[in-house]
Order: sequence, then structure tokens, then C-alpha cells
Amino acid sequence: MFKNLPATVSINEVGPRDGLQNVKTFIPTEDKIAIIEGLIAAGINSFELTSFVSPKAIPQLADAADVCRTILAKYGDRINASALVPNLKGAQAAWDAGIREVACVISVSAAHNKANINRTHDESIADLAKMIESLPGMRIRVDLATAFACPFDGWVGPEAVRSLASRIHQLGVRKIVLADTIGVATPDRVYALSSYMRSQFPEVEFALHLHDTRGMGLTNTLAGLMAGITTFETSIAGLGGCPFAPGAAGNTATEDAVNMLQDMNIGTGISREKLIDVLSLVAEKVDAPVNSHLAKAKLYECLN
Ligand code: COA
Ligand code: ZN
Repeated sequence: MFKNLPATVSINEVGPRDGLQNVKTFIPTEDKIAIIEGLIAAGINSFELTSFVSPKAIPQLADAADVCRTILAKYGDRINASALVPNLKGAQAAWDAGIREVACVISVSAAHNKANINRTHDESIADLAKMIESLPGMRIRVDLATAFACPFDGWVGPEAVRSLASRIHQLGVRKIVLADTIGVATPDRVYALSSYMRSQFPEVEFALHLHDTRGMGLTNTLAGLMAGITTFETSIAGLGGCPFAPGAAGNTATEDAVNMLQDMNIGTGISREKLIDVLSLVAEKVDAPVNSHLAKAKLYECLN
């Protein structure tokens, strides 16, 4: 029925960054670490662990260096750990904390780029160039925020995404995340943009980061799979949202994505049952609703 779906998919867990940046209270560092350790035990091997941004902008992640140092000391050889950064200062701090891959965030819409990181596109591209030059050992991917729509300017067209991606590509970046920051994309848009970008930049590895504001997270994931995307960023318990994007809700929940993929015989290496165990830890430690479908449903033995 669905042709050419991949046999395996990579999940990049962004809950420790996207999820925890949007909860009202500061989660103590040891609780963050306990949640990440639970996720590692469930089989997740790729994480956006935190962000190195201004603590005035995101006080919830002011302990970024401590989280990274602790996790990398114990699990550095087992996981691919990255962190979100807005500029060279953040990338340098991430490097100093042992991080060797950063996600440099730039919004496709000028208005959100200004609201989120107080930069024009030219300034962001200049920052990215500086980062590449100053930290030659760092793997750098770019998160293209508002790749589908902007909370201030409305729908974002594929041409704007291609044009910004082209400047990033010229700097040598070969990993780009297409983010539906406010969660309003629909499957046709996800399929069209993913296919278009893959055809325009065949040597770039594209990933999708899909918020679930309007309940489209899983259908959009399927649309991405059908367009050949094999890396998805998801968040445990469906936590998440950008504090500088009014109206944005959480990400597609990791456990919902794993559940769908597992029952479609697409491997992730992650245990759905162990993820459910982590949910009780999240519910205990994080003052935010656990939003996934799987958290609300009972898992029936006969399905296992
Ligand atoms: N980490 C920590 N501090 C940083 C920083 C970073 N990556 N970049 C800048 N700063 C500090 C500066 O040192 C300066 O500190 P001071 O006031 O104590 O002197 C202050 O932030 C202002 O620096 P400036 O370069 O003028 O930044 P700005 O005011 O233009 O803000 C950002 C730009 C990018 C730092 C800020 O908008 C930000 O951190 N945004 C993150 C948004 C985010 O995480 N959104 C959610 C994820 S998509
Ligand atoms: Zn996000």
C-alpha cells in the first residue's frame, strides 16, 4: 500500500531541550538527568540534550553545561548527543561542555528569527559562517524553524525555505532539520516540502521536527516517511513548544511515533514499553501534562 517505506528510522529525542524549555518551572538538573537516563534505558541513542542560549531567554536550561558533562561522562560513547545553539557563543560553550554536534537554529520567517534570536537572516548566516570557521571539529546541522508557517507572518512558501537552505548549503552544511515550529502543517505540505527539498539538495540529509498543535504529528510523520525522510525529532510525553512562538504546543510524542513505527514493522531500536515507564517519571518530575495518545491508552498484551 505504502511504497518504499524505510526498514528503520532514526529518532532524535528533543524532549530534554524542546520539552523542558517550555515548562514553567526549572526542573532540577538531577531530575533532567534521571529522565534522560530513563530514555537511554529505553533504547534512545540520539538526543538534543539541551540548548546553550541566553539564560535570560530560557532560564529553564541554564544548567546546560552540567547536564551535558554528566550525561557525556557516563554515556558519551553510546549516544549521539547534540545541543541547540543560536550563535558562536553558544556553540563555544557547547564545545567546552563536550558537545560535538550542534543544531544552529535559524527561522525561515524573518519575524520569528527576530523574535526568537534577535537576528536578521544576514546576521544569522554570518553567525553560522563564524561558527563553522571557529569550531572546525564541531558537526553543525541547521534547524530551519518556521519552515511551514510563522506565528507572525502566516504560511511560509517552499521557495523561502529553498532560498535560505541554499545559503546554508553554500557554507557546507549537509544536515538540515525542517521544523513545523507551531504545528500547523498538513500531510500534503509535509510531503511536498520534504520531496522538494530532497530533490533540490540531494546530498543533504533532511530531518523533520513536527509539533502536534493540531493533532497532525503522526500523519505528518507518515507523509515525511513517504517522501523519503528517515530522521524524525520527537519529544517524550509530547512536551515542547517555543516560548517565542505564541500558540505552539508540544512535539509529536516519542512514544506515539515509536508505537506507530513498531506496528508498521519499521525499526527504531526503542522499546515502547520502556518509554511508558519513563512517562511516570516525567509525570512525577515535570509540571506539565503528559500529552501523548499512548499515555492515555492501555497497551493490550495481545498486540505485543
Ligand atoms: N548563551 C548564553 N548567553 C548568551 C548567548 C548564549 N548563546 N548569546 C548571547 N548571550 C548573552 C550575552 O553574553 C549578553 O549577556 P549580558 O547581557 O550579560 O552582557 C546577552 O546574552 C545579550 O547578548 P546579545 O548578543 O546582544 O544577544 P541578544 O540580546 O541579541 O539575544 C540571543 C540573542 C540569541 C542570545 C537570545 O535571543 C537567545 O538566547 N535566544 C534563544 C531563544 C531560544 O532558545 N528559543 C527556543 C529554541 S528555538
Ligand atoms: Zn520545536
